[in-house]
Amino acid sequence: MSFGSIADTVNIRGNVTTPRYVFGTGGINVVEPIHQALDAGYRAFDTAQQYGNEEVVGRALKEYKIDRKDVFVITKVNKPGETVEATLEGIRESVQKLDLAYVDLFLIHNPNYGPEGRKIQWKALEQAKKEGLARAIGVSNFVLHHLEGMKEYATELPAVNQTELTMFYQDKEVVEWCNQHGVQMQSFAPVARAQKKDDESLLQVAKEVERPWNRVMLRWNWQKGYLVTCKSEKADRIRDNTSIFDFELSSAQMEKLDALDCGFKVTPSTVKDVDERSRYYKDMP
Ligand SMILES: NC(=O)c1ccc[n+]([C@@H]2O[C@H](COP(=O)([O-])OP(=O)(O)OC[C@H]3O[C@@H](n4cnc5c(N)ncnc54)[C@H](OP(=O)(O)O)[C@@H]3O)[C@@H](O)[C@H]2O)c1
Repeated sequence: MSFGSIADTVNIRGNVTTPRYVFGTGGINVVEPIHQALDAGYRAFDTAQQYGNEEVVGRALKEYKIDRKDVFVITKVNKPGETVEATLEGIRESVQKLDLAYVDLFLIHNPNYGPEGRKIQWKALEQAKKEGLARAIGVSNFVLHHLEGMKEYATELPAVNQTELTMFYQDKEVVEWCNQHGVQMQSFAPVARAQKKDDESLLQVAKEVERPWNRVMLRWNWQKGYLVTCKSEKADRIRDNTSIFDFELSSAQMEKLDALDCGFKVTPSTVKDVDERSRYYKDMP
């Protein structure tokens, strides 16, 4: 029986194929963990202008001597410039820093800059796609009204919405909107930065399947059909986090985990109050 593989891919808008299992590089500023992730089988890498590590990610991939077409690189626009052209300058800078000829998927990092800021960023990304700087474009941390608002200015809707998704934060209305509109969900922080590793129900399921808590969290995410984006800079954890393809969660176990939805998120970590954090993007105009 096959439980999937780290090499599995999915087609996203624009007939672009992306690996479903993605290595998160937030906070990583050296090449070794990226090489360890490649050794473990990861072929997709998530970076961002904001992480300040695009140059390191690009260098790590080049040093590994893997064919450009065999890796998938995701990065994110941090802030809009005053104009579409000024925003495009930042996009070109990212492509230069990565030095991999093009980006596979370029996202708006978050909806923080208001309707006009989001429109400028999206128009710049549409232009970047036309110019071959990005193969696919998408958004991150967008909730319903940000997504609906795109219908007013977008020539094409996003290929991907990257958001925090775990059994503790399921964001069902956003997932449903994206499913209806052909937007692939990409989950980040799928092990909730280890902050829920002592949850009793999670540990009960972990005991049932005889796997550690992190693999159960990652497997739940995988079975939901998301692109799964986990980060570690420790070689043993990088490997361990890929060991989710030798078991599956039964529908009863998935239901038990689904019941843990409670609005708990780990991002944005600058917002200290947990309730405020779960509403943060919903309250953002
Ligand atoms: N779009 C956005 O706004 C956004 C926001 C956040 C994250 N992201 C992306 O998603 C990626 C992953 O998210 P994340 O880093 O916030 O959260 P995460 O992947 O859920 O957790 C990463 C944290 O948990 C630890 N960890 C990882 N595997 C572990 C394991 N098996 N056992 C114990 N601890 C473990 C890591 O520590 P060690 O490194 O020490 O192992 C790290 O501190 C990021 O790197 C980034 O690419 C995007």
